[in-house]
Amino acid sequence: MYTLDQLKYIVSQCKMCELYKERNNTVFGEGNPHARIMFIGEGPGYYEDQMGRPFVGKAGQLLDKMLSSIELKREDIYIGNIVKCRPPNNRNPLEVESKVCIEYLRWQVKLIDPDIIVCLGAVAARNIISQDFKISKERGAWIKKGKFHIMATYHPAALLRDESKKRDSWEDLKSLRAKYEEILDVEKRG
Ligand code: URA
Ligand code: SF4
Repeated sequence: MYTLDQLKYIVSQCKMCELYKERNNTVFGEGNPHARIMFIGEGPGYYEDQMGRPFVGKAGQLLDKMLSSIELKREDIYIGNIVKCRPPNNRNPLEVESKVCIEYLRWQVKLIDPDIIVCLGAVAARNIISQDFKISKERGAWIKKGKFHIMATYHPAALLRDESKKRDSWEDLKSLRAKYEEILDVEKRG
């Protein structure tokens, strides 16, 4: 079994799909290696590709606000993406790209071993929860897969485009906080 650092190095060398051709940096993901909560986005955008770090652009700034609204910091959680290289012009990843790249994410999930997985947006939800996931209808609902409690909510970029989604997003965040408290309680009781 590789360590996260070894896996990060492997990803930095990856040419398993066409997305390697235009990347400046791979964006492996970052955060607390022992996080109870993992957030999964879609893929790097312009700034993420420049910096090699997830969610550092406008959507990332909003994500930070969303986290702080439920008293979480980046250091408390881990953030990754379905694909590690930026799709040209921020298009959605193709199925061939996400199917290959998600294997790295599976490794990350195994190593970090979170209790909660939050899918940010439809691309993450379709790759992690179900292929025909409808974000507007199915967001906010918890499902259980193995040991993982999984929920999808709007991608912060979608909230930037459409302010009317913020009310539902806030409900999802409160639900996430409640689930997190539940998990911490169970741990405390051992
Ligand atoms: N959007 C994503 O889905 N992921 C990032 O890392 C940044 C923006
Ligand atoms: Fe490899 Fe993923 Fe980058 Fe494709 S997107 S080259 S699979 S790291």
